[in-house]
Amino acid sequence: MPSAASSAARHHSNDVEAFSAAPESFRAASAGAYRAVRAETEARAAPLAPEDQVVQSMPDASPTKWHRAHTTWFFEQFLLVPSARRYRRFDERFAYLFNSYYVAAGPRHARPERGLITRPGATEVAAYRAHVDRAVVELLAYASTGEVEKTLPIVEIGLHHEQQHQELMLTDILHAFAHNPIAPAYDADWRPPACGRASGWFDLAEGIHTVGHDGGGFAFDNEGPAHRVLVGPVRIARSLVTNAEWLAFMADGGYANPTLWLSDGWANVAAEGWNAPGYWREIDGRWFSMTLAGLGAIDPAAPVSHVSYYEADAFARWAGKQLPTEAEWEVAAKSGELSDAFGVVWQWTRSAYAAYPGFRAAEGALGEYNGKFMVNQMVLRGSSLATPNGHARATYRNFFYPSARWQFSGLRLADYGR
Ligand SMILES: [Fe+2]
Repeated sequence: MPSAASSAARHHSNDVEAFSAAPESFRAASAGAYRAVRAETEARAAPLAPEDQVVQSMPDASPTKWHRAHTTWFFEQFLLVPSARRYRRFDERFAYLFNSYYVAAGPRHARPERGLITRPGATEVAAYRAHVDRAVVELLAYASTGEVEKTLPIVEIGLHHEQQHQELMLTDILHAFAHNPIAPAYDADWRPPACGRASGWFDLAEGIHTVGHDGGGFAFDNEGPAHRVLVGPVRIARSLVTNAEWLAFMADGGYANPTLWLSDGWANVAAEGWNAPGYWREIDGRWFSMTLAGLGAIDPAAPVSHVSYYEADAFARWAGKQLPTEAEWEVAAKSGELSDAFGVVWQWTRSAYAAYPGFRAAEGALGEYNGKFMVNQMVLRGSSLATPNGHARATYRNFFYPSARWQFSGLRLADYGR
C-alpha cells in the first residue's frame, strides 16, 4: 500500500468496526469511523494532480475525481436526502453526473464518458465532499437516537462502499499511468508487500463446512446466507503462484498453446495480443512491470499479479492443477493455513459469481448493489495490497469479468490428486 494511503489507514485500522460499539457511544464512534474513511480517500488522492484526476483510460476504470464525487453522492443520495430534513443538495446536477449504476436513483451519465467531465474540477469536488461531510457529521450528532439508529446501516454500507472505491482509485490510476510512455510513479516510495514463505499444500479432508457470512458484524448482502457445503478432499497451495512460475509458463509457450485455454480466453489472447501478465514490458530481454512506484524489474519470488481469470485458468491447466472453488478457498483461509490469503493479490477461484441459496437482495435502490451483477463474472477471494485496512473478510466475495486484469489479481492452485 502506498505510503500516502497507509498512514491514514494505519491509524484507523478498524474504522468500520466502530459500529459494534456500545449504544451510548455509537454517535461518536460512527462519526469517527466516517471521518477516518473519508480522510483515507483524500489521502489516496493527495499524490495526484488535478490533471491526473480527470483521466479515464478505459470504460472499466473511472477518474479519481469521479471516485471522490461518486462516494460523496452515495451518502447524499441514500443518507442525507431521505434522512436529513434540512439538507440541500450541493448541486442538483451532480446526481446525474455521479450516480454509477443505480437505476432506481434516476438517470445517469454514461460510464465510458466519465473522463470527459472536466467540470466540476477537483477543487469543486473537494467542496462537495466537505458539504456532505458537514451534513453527515451534523446528522450523527443532532438527530434523535431513533433516527440515528435507523440511519446507521446506511452510513455503514456507505463507508464500506467508499473503501471499495479506495481500492479502485489505485487500480484505475495505475492503468492510466501504465499507458503513459514516461511511466509515472503514483508514489515513488511505494514498496510491494512482504510475502509469506510458506510452501507446500494444505490438506483439506472431505467434510461439510459452513461458508458465507453468519450475520455477526458487517458483510455485503452477497456474502449470505451462510450455508453448508461439501468440500474436499483437496489440497490447496499454501502460497500464491509466483512470477518465476509464470515465467516458466511463458517460456513453455503458455500463451501460444490453444489446448491450455478456454475458448473465450484464447479469443482474448488473440484479440488483445496477450503474451505476459498485464503491465509487463520486455526491455532488452528483461521483464519489467508497471507498479505504483513506476516501472520496476520483475521480482521472480513475488506473487504474479494482473492476470485475468482466463490466464489463471490456463496456468492451472498447464500446471496439471485447477483453481480452487470459492468454498474451498474460504474453508482453507479460515483454517489459517494459507500464506498471503489477504493483502497481496485477490485470488481467482473457479466459482461463477452467483447467488447463494436463499439470497435476497436488499429492498429499494441499495438492492442494486450486488445482486444484479450475479451472472457472467467469476469470484475472487482474499484482498490485495490496495484493499484498505479493515475491509477484508474470509467471506468477502469480489467479482470481475473473466477478461479483467487491471485489478491486483493473482491465483493459488488446487490439487485433487487425479
Ligand atoms: Fe460505487
